[in-house]
Amino acid sequence: MLSTFEGFIPGDRYSPLYILTIVVINLPIITILLHGLWQVVSPKDPNVPPVVFHWIPIFGSAAQYGHDPINFFFKCREKYGDVFTFILFGRKMTVALGPKGNHFVTGGKLSEVSAEEAYTHLTTPVFGKDVVYDVPNHILMEQKRFVKFGLSVENFRAYVGLIEDEVETYLNNDPSFTVYGLGDINEWGSFNALKCMQELTIFTASRTLQGKEVRASLDKSFADLYNDLDGGFTPLNFLFPNLPLESYRKRDRAQKAMSDFYVQIQENRKDEDHSHDHDMLAALASQKYKDGTPLTERQIAHIMIALLMAGQHTSSATASWALLHLADRPDIADALYEEQVKHFSTPDGKLRAMTYEELKDLPLLDSVIRETLRVHPPIHSIIRKVIKDVPVPGSLANPGPDLTYIVPKGHYILSCPALSQADPAVWRDANKWDPLRWSDPEGVAAQAFKTYDDATGEKVDYGFGAVSKGTESPYQPFGAGRHRCIGEQFAYVQLGVVLSTIVRRLEMKLDTPIPSPDFHTMITLPKKPCNIRYRRRNFD
Ligand code: HEM
Repeated sequence: MLSTFEGFIPGDRYSPLYILTIVVINLPIITILLHGLWQVVSPKDPNVPPVVFHWIPIFGSAAQYGHDPINFFFKCREKYGDVFTFILFGRKMTVALGPKGNHFVTGGKLSEVSAEEAYTHLTTPVFGKDVVYDVPNHILMEQKRFVKFGLSVENFRAYVGLIEDEVETYLNNDPSFTVYGLGDINEWGSFNALKCMQELTIFTASRTLQGKEVRASLDKSFADLYNDLDGGFTPLNFLFPNLPLESYRKRDRAQKAMSDFYVQIQENRKDEDHSHDHDMLAALASQKYKDGTPLTERQIAHIMIALLMAGQHTSSATASWALLHLADRPDIADALYEEQVKHFSTPDGKLRAMTYEELKDLPLLDSVIRETLRVHPPIHSIIRKVIKDVPVPGSLANPGPDLTYIVPKGHYILSCPALSQADPAVWRDANKWDPLRWSDPEGVAAQAFKTYDDATGEKVDYGFGAVSKGTESPYQPFGAGRHRCIGEQFAYVQLGVVLSTIVRRLEMKLDTPIPSPDFHTMITLPKKPCNIRYRRRNFD
């Protein structure tokens, strides 16, 4: 029989050239087999966490992690325990699972682990220079303090009505809600939850935090700039900071244009007194570093971009998931509506506007947001780069008597709050979206929340005001420790007003099952299509 290669490989069948050609052609397969074999037979260093078996060198477990990180980690945990390393395009990612794993990563020492080194290649080309992960940690802590100054109760009070107004205007005017707008019939219409929540999130964030100039520009050039910049905030950018691709060039052009746009707003504002405005630009303009230096206009511009990017996908994804679940559970949506009626109905049978203080005192609304963040935390992986060999505490992973795992310098460590928040060992019916689990004061949820956000418990000030430590909680949607999110309260205000205003107006239902999560984006979004059917509530 003729060999497949006979006829086009020069020389004798057993000639060196023939054999070399066969080897070269089969090199990838040979490499893969040898790589697999080496992982099985090579001697293991008992002090180093086990490496997840993978076939392709360098590529490692990228496909499994990128496709469904939670499932991948659950499977790895069965095989390797709570601490293991997987390969992600040549990077060594040491995963630490469970509440102790969360603590190991979010409570890591500054001398041992660094968020800047893990994220700056992704964030600096998008946010711009001299802010967030482009500065030493102590400067970031000061910048977080400046932003917290802008996220004041006084500002939140002003935001509630503005957000409500944006939602009302959107429902009255957006083409997705034309059925809603038809005067005398009440037919079921349909809207795309993700698209609408993305629009409402940017409308409401710009009307409040970002300031009126940004809100006014949204229908024009700003939207294109935002989209180009957003195109530079993807898993591809995380893996490869600079590629000769159009999306990277668009990212860089948009960053510059958006930075100039925010600087120009500050220039224009100089003609009038804006110190009493309730937006972040006004707040940042008054802030000074500890050494007395004020923020430059450029730094303010870049902080504004960072806040825009940090809040947009996280809040819009959460709002979308919450609406999808409410549409799937009309009983909970109705109970949410009744909560609104109980607190805000007026003698003429209408619902009045809510205040910030009242918003904070709506237990079911609060539970709906908490539960949505438990089941669908927008950020599934929290990553730090190891800058000095770091020992894994024995209580987290004990490889044997008198042994400790050491995660070597150069590795990354990763915790996965999405896993600890969905762990059947911690939560009853872990995969079920059940807001009522939060109303049992003795239940697991309440206990987990206590360790995360305990008003009376341990507080730490990392330089941006005292926050609950929360590093060892199984519930950590906003991260914990020194890198804990500063947008948490704003997100609750924004989500609370958006969801309650929609529930006041609309009845919703789903014709399809809840979409599954799409992990191919930086933030976990619902897979398309994610349409919700709706009609006007209390139509008469
Ligand atoms: C950090 C989640 C909204 C600003 C974080 C982290 C998480 C998170 C998990 C920690 C990342 C880490 O430790 O590596 C969320 C969720 C949100 C939300 C779930 C909404 C539902 C916002 C908003 C803003 C914001 C609205 C701004 C107004 C920030 C900033 C950081 C951060 C500046 C970086 C802090 C640091 O590294 O020190 N967020 N976030 N976030 N968040 Fe949020």
